[in-house]
Amino acid sequence: MTSRKILVTSALPYANGPIHLGHLVEYIQTDIWARFQRMRDNECYYICADDAHGTPIMLRAQQENMTPEALIEDMSVRHQADFASFNISFDNYHSTHSEENRFFAESIYLAARDNDHIETRTIEQAYDSEADMFLPDRFIKGNCPKCGADDQYGDNCEACGATYETTDLKNAFSVVTGSTPIKKETEHYFFKVNDFKDTLLDYLKSGAIQKEIANKTSEWFEEDLRPWDISRDAPYWGFKIPDTDDKYFYVWLDAPIGYLASFKNFCDKENAKGNDISFDSFWKNGSIDPTTEVHHFIGKDIAYFHTLFWPALLTAADIKLPTAIYCHGFLTVDGKKMSKSRGTFIQAEIYIKHLPAEPLRYYYAAKLNNTAEDIDLNLEDFMQRVNSDLVGKVVNIASRCAGFIKKKFDNTLSDKLADETLFKHFADQAETIAELYEARKFSQAMREIMALADLANQYIDDKKPWVLIKDEAQANEVQDICTQGINLFKVIITYLKPVIPEVAAQAEAFLNSAELNWSSVNEPLLAHSLNTFKPLLNRLEKSAIDDMLEENKTLAEAQQKAGATPANAKTKTSANIEPIKETIEFADFEKVDLRVAKIVKADHVEGADKLLQLTLDIGQDKTRNVFAGIKSAFDPSDLEGKMTVMVANLAPRKMRFGVSEGMVLAAGPGGKELYLLSPNEGAKAGMRIK
Ligand code: 2FM
Ligand code: ZN
Repeated sequence: MTSRKILVTSALPYANGPIHLGHLVEYIQTDIWARFQRMRDNECYYICADDAHGTPIMLRAQQENMTPEALIEDMSVRHQADFASFNISFDNYHSTHSEENRFFAESIYLAARDNDHIETRTIEQAYDSEADMFLPDRFIKGNCPKCGADDQYGDNCEACGATYETTDLKNAFSVVTGSTPIKKETEHYFFKVNDFKDTLLDYLKSGAIQKEIANKTSEWFEEDLRPWDISRDAPYWGFKIPDTDDKYFYVWLDAPIGYLASFKNFCDKENAKGNDISFDSFWKNGSIDPTTEVHHFIGKDIAYFHTLFWPALLTAADIKLPTAIYCHGFLTVDGKKMSKSRGTFIQAEIYIKHLPAEPLRYYYAAKLNNTAEDIDLNLEDFMQRVNSDLVGKVVNIASRCAGFIKKKFDNTLSDKLADETLFKHFADQAETIAELYEARKFSQAMREIMALADLANQYIDDKKPWVLIKDEAQANEVQDICTQGINLFKVIITYLKPVIPEVAAQAEAFLNSAELNWSSVNEPLLAHSLNTFKPLLNRLEKSAIDDMLEENKTLAEAQQKAGATPANAKTKTSANIEPIKETIEFADFEKVDLRVAKIVKADHVEGADKLLQLTLDIGQDKTRNVFAGIKSAFDPSDLEGKMTVMVANLAPRKMRFGVSEGMVLAAGPGGKELYLLSPNEGAKAGMRIK
C-alpha cells in the first residue's frame, strides 16, 4: 500500500494564557491520531502555532509593562513546554505573528479584494475615550438589563442567563479604564461570505464535516450569510490591512491562516535540510498531487469559524479545501463546567508537577469518540481506571512473566510460542483496531485492547507459571508460557503506543526490540534476549491528585487577587467610583422597604460562577431566599450569622437557579472588593431602615 501524505492540525492556542486540561483534550486527541498515522507508515505532519494577535494580548502586555512581542514569546515557550510534557509530537510549532503569516494573510485578503469579495461600511462601535480605543464586547461590563446583576459581560448574564446586545447593558463601563463607553462611527472592512454560499453548501454536504456539526452550520444558510467584519481599528495588535493607514486584520482572520504559515515554515526548514516536502502539494488548487490530505481538529465552539469563514477564505484565494474538520466536545471536571473558583481549571503545568502525563492521555482516549459530545474527567474514576487498566492489566502481563524469564532463563525467550492460535487472535485484531483509530473511535479501540489484556491475564492465570516453576520437570514449560505472555504484551503495547508513547518506548527498551509498529504485530520475539524489566508505570495515588488540586486552587486564588487579566482591570482600579445617579423624589425612596436581615444560611449555587444562595431572617418568623452575586468576595461559611441589610419588597425574580426574594446591599466595584452593608451592633432582624 502506498503511504498517505497527511497534514494534521490542532486549533492554535491563544497566547493570552496557559494551557489547561480542557485544551489538552484536543491536543491529545490529535496527537493520538497523528502518532497512529505514523505507525501505519503514512507520511504525517502535525503542526501548530500560537494564536498571537488581538486586543486581549495588547492590553495584557500593557498591563505587564512588556511589549506584545515579548509577551507572546514568553507564552510560546510556556505553551511548548506544556505540550512537550504531555508528549504532544508536533512536527512544527510556529506563531501567527510571523512573516509567513503576514504574507498569507495579505495575499488571501488581496485575492478576495481584487475579486470584489470585500466591501467597506461605516458602523457604530463602543469607544473608550479615555483609552482612545474601540472596545470589543468582552471589554465592556455593566448591570444585566433584565435582572440587574452587576459585573456582567457584554452579551449575556451569568446570573439569569439573559442574552442581549452590549448596548443594552445598564451602567456600562469599559474594563480598560472604568469610563463609560460612547458610540463612535468607524469604517470597517467586510468579507462577503455569501459570495461563496454554493461552494460552502457543497462542502458541508461533502462529508468533510461531522453530520451533527454540518447540520448545525447549515442552519445559517436559511438566510443569506452576513458579510464578516474582518477589520479592527488602531490601536490593535495584529497585521495592518494593505492599502490602509490604521486598519488591522481581526485576529480571527489571520488565526486559521496560521495553519498555512506554520506548515510553510516547516516545509522551508525541511527543504533547506534537503527533505522533499511540498507545501503546494497540500494546498495549491489543481495541485499535481491529489493524494495529500489536510485534517483539522478543533473544539465545537469554533466550528463556525472553521466550517464557514475558513473554507470561504480559502476558496477566495483559490486554495484547496481541508479534507476534514473534526469537532470534539468540551471537558467537564467531575460533571461540572471547569471553574476557576472551584479550582477545576487545572493548568497543565500544575498537573504535570504531581502526576504523569500518560495516564491522562489514556483516560481521555478511553472517553473520546468521533462526536462532539462533552467528556468528563472524574478524578476518582480517572485514578481507578488507570490503576485497573494500565497498571493492573497491561503492565501486569509483562511484570508477571519478566521475573521468571530473568531468574530462570537468563532473560531469554523460548524459540516457540506456547499457543500460536492465541497469538494469532491478538495479531488479527490489528485491522479492526486500526479502523477504530482512523475513525477517531478511541474509546472503542481502548475497550478492544483491554479485552485482549484480560485474555492475556486469563492465559497466565490458567497456566500458573508460579506453580510449575517449583517443579524441575516443568521448568521449560514456564519459559514457553512466559514467552507467550511477553509476546501478547508486545501486541497490546503496539496497539496502545499512539496513546502511551512513553510507556511504549520503555516497553521497547525492555523487549529489546525494534520500534513497535502496526506492521510488526505479526512478528513474535523468539529465541530473543530481553533487557531487565523495570516498572513501566506506577499506581496513581489519591494524595497526588489532592495535592495537585490544592496547588491549582491556591494558584487560581493568587491570580484572581493579582487581577491577572485585563478583564479584571476594573476590579483593580477600585478608585473608579460610579457617578451619582439622577435625583429621585422622597416618595420614590419611601417605596423601598429596607430591612435589617440576619444571614442564617449561605451556600454555593451549583453551576453559578457568581452567586451565593442566602437564607435571610427578617423577623416575624419570616425567612427569605436570596441569590446574591457576591461569591467572588465571600466564603459562605464566613457569612452565616452576620447581620446585613436587604431590600425586602423587591418583586420576586425567577432566576435560572430558583426564585430570588429580595436583594442584599453591598458596595464596591466587584470581584474581591465587595463590602456587605451591616447595621451597628444591637440592630435586630426585621427592623425597617428609614
Ligand atoms: O479559540 C481559540 O483559542 C483560538 N485561538 C483558536 C484558533 S484556531 C485557528 F483558527 F487558528
Ligand atoms: Zn441577568
